[in-house]
Amino acid sequence: MQENAPSPSAAEQDAEPLWEYAASRGMSRREFLRLLVAGGSAAVLAACVGPSALSSTPTPTATPPAAPWFKDPAPFIRRDDKGLETRLETLHGVITPNDLFFVRNNSVSIDVSASDWRLSVEGDAVAEPMELTYDDVKALPSRTLISYLECAGNHRALFDVVQGRKASGTQWMTGAVGNGEWVGVALRDVLTLAGIHASAVSVLLVGLDADSPEGGFRYVLPAEKAMDPDTLLAYVLNGEALPKDHGFPLRALVPGWVGSASVKWLGRIVASSRQLWTRNNTTSYVLIGDRYPPEGEAQGKPVTEQIIKSALALPWPAELAAGKHRVHGYAHSPAAPIARVQWSADGGREWADAELSGRQADRSWARFEFVWDAARGERVLMTRATDAVGNTQPDSVPFNEKGYLFNQPAPHPIRVT
Ligand code: MTE
Repeated sequence: MQENAPSPSAAEQDAEPLWEYAASRGMSRREFLRLLVAGGSAAVLAACVGPSALSSTPTPTATPPAAPWFKDPAPFIRRDDKGLETRLETLHGVITPNDLFFVRNNSVSIDVSASDWRLSVEGDAVAEPMELTYDDVKALPSRTLISYLECAGNHRALFDVVQGRKASGTQWMTGAVGNGEWVGVALRDVLTLAGIHASAVSVLLVGLDADSPEGGFRYVLPAEKAMDPDTLLAYVLNGEALPKDHGFPLRALVPGWVGSASVKWLGRIVASSRQLWTRNNTTSYVLIGDRYPPEGEAQGKPVTEQIIKSALALPWPAELAAGKHRVHGYAHSPAAPIARVQWSADGGREWADAELSGRQADRSWARFEFVWDAARGERVLMTRATDAVGNTQPDSVPFNEKGYLFNQPAPHPIRVT
């Protein structure tokens, strides 16, 4: 970026919106110009919140180590050896192709043979404990659902970028989310087959990835959510057998809930008449902070449902030529379809409506686009989504230590040349 940085005079002419954003966060004009010349918009945004702010922006690794997943990691932003973050700018349509779908593992992807695989359904809240084969599962009535799947920590890095407070955990930007067409059976059909009691309280899902915490990644669903007809056990993603990285042969898909609920490589289901507690509802995937008093055995408030968000399908930071651009992005809410997406090029003072492209199916995200006449300089674009029941992205989000549920409009830095 440095060699293309504008001179102070060019900056004064071209960078007004960025300056307005920086000024609204207390930066002096002199400091603004110094940073703009030294490091462009990224440096200005970083300094709006503190010295480390943009150190968490995605940078592809030049010489990647051997990867603990099966798919080609090249199109992704690598997050240590546990995550492949989708570059949203590689997406164009509504469906995220399998080879571009983000991966989040707590250990490594595993290769499970469908013929050896069994799903056990057990626990004191089922009358008929049973074991199902892959063919048994596929013989049950199937359900097709378009749904997004989002990691609980998606947008986490923005706590640092926007608020200057770094949350613990993988520093995802905006690409720990994807939207797919899933085919599977309703979890409730399997539980019904096993004779689930009306007294069931918790349904524990356990993965076969034994190197993950607790000897298999696991998540506790309330019985009510487990019995929701949209909670699936999926074996197809976008017309193909579930890819290995996404949980072959069978995974849970819990639309609208944190991605951790969608347990991959599913091997065991335990229905219990008691509230169950695991790492993933006591210490992990829990909102911890002043506003979140402990609940049950949890250190704070367990995160269950996701929250309304939007993001642009552009690199962060982006670089565009001056002139008109059709910019697109994606918005999703667990509560209802997206009703409106607005965009702002002046730090959020004025907002215009983006167009929503196409009908939003099932639990899908919405694709939006708008035409932006980009003038030279350091710019910032923001988007704000509203859903059909009136939820909107807020101006500010309270901090929590593990960085969940960040959904302030993201100030996306763009150098227009
Ligand atoms: N299931 C198992 N067995 N092991 C895991 O590590 N990660 C969870 C969830 N299911 C995980 C898992 C998390 S944190 C997320 S965000 C989603 O899977 C990611 O799904 P994906 O890798 O298919 O995109």
